[in-house]
Amino acid sequence: MGASPDQPDRPRSDRPTSEEQSVGEQVARLRPVTDRSVWTGADLEVDRSWEYLLTDQHLEELGRALMSVSDRPLSRIARDDFHLPTLGGVIRSIGNEIRDGRGFSLLRGLPVDRYEYEELERLYWGLCSHLGTGVTQNSDASLIHYVTDGRLRPNQGLRGVGSPKKSGLHVDLADCVSLLCVRQAPDEPMSWVASSTRVFNEFVERHPEHLPALLEGFEWDRLDEQGPRETATSGYKVPVFSIAPGEGGADRVSCRYNRFWMAKALLRDRDRLPEGTWALFNLFDEIAESVRLDLPFEPGDMQFVNNYVALHGRDAHAEVPDEDRKRVLMRVWFDFDEARPVADEGIIRYGIIRHGALGWTAEQLNEGRHLGAHERDRHGVPLVQPRTPLMGDATQTGATH
Ligand SMILES: [Fe+2]
Repeated sequence: MGASPDQPDRPRSDRPTSEEQSVGEQVARLRPVTDRSVWTGADLEVDRSWEYLLTDQHLEELGRALMSVSDRPLSRIARDDFHLPTLGGVIRSIGNEIRDGRGFSLLRGLPVDRYEYEELERLYWGLCSHLGTGVTQNSDASLIHYVTDGRLRPNQGLRGVGSPKKSGLHVDLADCVSLLCVRQAPDEPMSWVASSTRVFNEFVERHPEHLPALLEGFEWDRLDEQGPRETATSGYKVPVFSIAPGEGGADRVSCRYNRFWMAKALLRDRDRLPEGTWALFNLFDEIAESVRLDLPFEPGDMQFVNNYVALHGRDAHAEVPDEDRKRVLMRVWFDFDEARPVADEGIIRYGIIRHGALGWTAEQLNEGRHLGAHERDRHGVPLVQPRTPLMGDATQTGATH
């Protein structure tokens, strides 16, 4: 049962999660991850099979698919409506790679200048619908989030998304994040991607003393985007690394790391981070940066990043006062149709996204569900509910800019 309307969703720290019950046991048996999600930037510089290029035929297909849905709002566009005869195969390969491979892919070559923003939204959403189920990303319940510091910036609480400042390596909140570069800043900052399972291995092999803290995790702030009866922080700790049994006996390690969101929660009732936590975050960042891939991100490029095994970020860029020259990205957050094995789905998969107007599917949006609260258990943890796998039967757009 969810929280009663008469009972504010209060934080509880006593939830007996599998993580809390067995941190000591888990640390003792931890082994480095050996699957394909483990890589370094140097590895990906050599083997560039993560990079895909749109062909003329793909662009024709995208144009036809866009024409076929020109009469409907973005959220009425479902996978079955957006036919991509040959590009669909490429997108399946990308899906396999981000879900079960390196956790990262890049698709290049969309001629963004040929389209109005409204068309680009539909096209990008339709393409992403072949990879999973999109969810809302901000206080406007937008299905497409504009990453910019210009007039298209949505209501996003205390988040600094779109700021010219450096964006340290982190995860976003859904299973997967995709970014489409519409216009890059004039000084062309590099994008960063890093394998978080590679970071995990570094902790296992060289810094095991920090593993109990990482497995226990941290509360996440809700950055002033919580609903009226939701608390300002998660109220439960979300493990930075969590372990679940995978197929064939191999453990699946999942990472939930975003220094900003975790630090904000800690700083609600103190002036500075505890010394050990500050040092741990610094060490995590240092390791992640040492193994990252730096890549240019040009107009027409699309990144796809699995938030459980890969981190993303960006270098700082100079402020751009002119609205017409500002950096503009479109972003889609989507969940995979087949859930990755995780230790505690309510916390690991949904514990950082389901609050306020965030984390709703197009279908739920069209039912007006985002105007209410996410359902939670008595500890305040989001309930795990089955979702319709396809983005379909939607009747309104979530893009509110
Ligand atoms: Fe991000």
